[in-house]
Amino acid sequence: MMLSEDMYQENILEHYKHPHNFGMLEQKDIDVREVNPLCGDVVEMQIILKGDVIEDIKFHGKGCAISQAATSMLTDEVKGKTLKEATEMTKQKILGMLGVEISPVRQKCAFLGLKVLHMCLEKAGHASSKDSHC
Ligand code: FES
Repeated sequence: MMLSEDMYQENILEHYKHPHNFGMLEQKDIDVREVNPLCGDVVEMQIILKGDVIEDIKFHGKGCAISQAATSMLTDEVKGKTLKEATEMTKQKILGMLGVEISPVRQKCAFLGLKVLHMCLEKAGHASSKDSHC
């Protein structure tokens, strides 16, 4: 079923108000924090690994609805996946999950969580493909 633009908008707001995987992990294997240089907003992401599987992932920070919702959806998507599978998360996939038109100015917002995820994966020795870089 195709969702309407309104339903995507509503989904973004829902993730913004009640972000999934939001918070901090006491023990973590990877911890990366990154700032959106355009606005100063921050996303910090923490990951617990079991072998090469992302067993748990949490994020926190402050930012606009787009950045927080995109990061919330992204963490849902990669939780339980291998590091290699997580490298396949691209900008296109983020835009698909958000489902609304994102202006060029807001793209840094939409991809902030993805950038942090890629930094986490690089720390774990898994570089992402070029087209997924922010
Ligand atoms: Fe700062 Fe969107 S305005 S992340």
